[in-house]
Amino acid sequence: MRTPRSNSYRDTWCGALDASRAGDAVTVAGWVHRRRDHGGLIFIDLRDRSGIVQLVFHPETSGVAFGAAERLRSEHVVSVEGDVVRREEGNVNPNLATGEIELQVRQMQVLAEAETPVFPIDEDHDVDEVTRLRHRMLDLRREPMREALVLRSKVVKAMRDVLEERDFLEVETPILTRSTPEGARDFLVPSRLQPGSWYALPQSPQLFKQLLMMSGFERYYQIARCFRDEDLRADRQPEFTQLDVEMSFVEEEDVIEMMEAVMTRVFEVAQVDVPPAPWPRMGYDEALSRFGSDRPDTRFGLELHDVSDLVGGSDFKVFQGVLDGGGAVVALNAGARAMSRSEIEGLNEVVQRHGGKAVAHAFVDAGAWRSGIAKFFSEDQQRKVVDALGGAEGDLLLFAADQRQVALEALGGLRLELGKRFGLIPDDRHDLLWVVDFPMFGRNEEEDRWDALHHPFTAPVGSFDDPGALRSRGYDLVMDGTEIGGGSIRINDPEVQQQVFDALGMDEEEAQARFGFLLDALRYGAPPHGGIAMGLDRIVAICAARDSIRDVIAFPKTASGGDPMTGAPAPVDDRQLRELAVRSLVTQQA
Ligand code: AMO
Repeated sequence: MRTPRSNSYRDTWCGALDASRAGDAVTVAGWVHRRRDHGGLIFIDLRDRSGIVQLVFHPETSGVAFGAAERLRSEHVVSVEGDVVRREEGNVNPNLATGEIELQVRQMQVLAEAETPVFPIDEDHDVDEVTRLRHRMLDLRREPMREALVLRSKVVKAMRDVLEERDFLEVETPILTRSTPEGARDFLVPSRLQPGSWYALPQSPQLFKQLLMMSGFERYYQIARCFRDEDLRADRQPEFTQLDVEMSFVEEEDVIEMMEAVMTRVFEVAQVDVPPAPWPRMGYDEALSRFGSDRPDTRFGLELHDVSDLVGGSDFKVFQGVLDGGGAVVALNAGARAMSRSEIEGLNEVVQRHGGKAVAHAFVDAGAWRSGIAKFFSEDQQRKVVDALGGAEGDLLLFAADQRQVALEALGGLRLELGKRFGLIPDDRHDLLWVVDFPMFGRNEEEDRWDALHHPFTAPVGSFDDPGALRSRGYDLVMDGTEIGGGSIRINDPEVQQQVFDALGMDEEEAQARFGFLLDALRYGAPPHGGIAMGLDRIVAICAARDSIRDVIAFPKTASGGDPMTGAPAPVDDRQLRELAVRSLVTQQA
């Protein structure tokens, strides 16, 4: 950190002091991190954002400051003047950047007192998350949080640096807007000036960035806040941040190359070792068939195999019924695992959480199966399955039978859990890959229509005669099994755009009402364009090795979408609602 401008509080950072400053008189300011009395001397660890320095108060040389130091408590705020001195050999603290020196205090100003903090700031104490979030101001004083936010700022700067070098312009887009369909529920804001009408908060700046391309800005980016009302998880927040990018006159390769350059710089700055770009590409179909996921964690094995052909024609009704119905039997070899019967039973619950029904199992025994279901299969079938799964003596084979996609995803979920349970996922290495060649649509059986797999503005490849077979020009960047970014080449032809809306069950009238501004814009010379958005929170969480993105966001929400500190969301009074012409059903019932 650069030396701060000198004023009455300080002329240097605590963490910047080292042996080269020995003999200097300095002024530092910060919080009392820790305090120790030692045979007539008082030692204080003083903390500011840059780090910690040890202060020594001496009854003779510190004057009145000594008495004041006796009354100091944790988290009081002080400014002190003193001399930097080398510590004696035996007192050097190799764990502290400033551990070779200490500051002998001559004068002190107590700037603020602090009540005893709700939890200790100076220790790596496990504090329950709700308490941390309720007292987030204090929590943010703790080193892991400070480190995470410093890293986050560096990551954003690295992104901006590369994009500015490449002539991207940062443009802001509205927060009060209309719905942008990214597949989640909207957060709505009532309009006071137009009673009965509502703004939606943007799920992403998608349509605005496309319009900027049509306006001729060519290269846009924004560190953009996005809002999605969906069920929260460790890697999902209702408001989160994207690095949002769009470019004109580009193809997939251009966007991918640009983002590889950005992310390479990000990983350098974050000091995270990753394989050098270009990163491998994997088709969606391959990702799904081998890993049961469109964001495969390729750091470990346990790959899936479709064994439908090998187990067909058996007397096992569960498999045969599914196969007769056009489904598939998918299997994985979990390896030689000592698992109790109840542990194996417990795997059913895991596949159910991932959309499956149940899991069948067999142990490899002399090249065939040892299993309650072995009797339904010929020896030849058993052997072929063992061979296909590379089964060795004692290996545990697991099977799921269902519609192919359902079986793959269920077993893909099981694969991840087994990977974690058996410690197969290396945490000292990172894998990056692009998933490409997505289907354009997925079938929404409940509503008897198609859903866009990316979003409806993604350019399709193929013929609309068979929407299920259409591919899209989308791409996702996956790191360690997390989708850290996604984008596509867009539609720049209004007719194709309407075809996509049609397939989604949106006729021209509805499309015009919702997206007329886009359809109109597309008629005035829309260049070929494409882009991508990166999940900033997820990227920082992976770089900082945190399990949850909440740990890299200054003021996040809990899993139920609340903020225990401010109490948001909170009821509002009736007067406010009346002004907005909104009636609360909940209040009415009460
Ligand atoms: P997408 O919806 O894939 O694409 O979002 C891009 C990236 O944003 C991150 N992300 C999230 N992070 C935290 N909490 C969430 N709730 C959340 N949702 C998404 C993910 C994801 O990869 N407009 C398109 C981009 C484009 O086509 O250019 C879009 O928003 O890391």
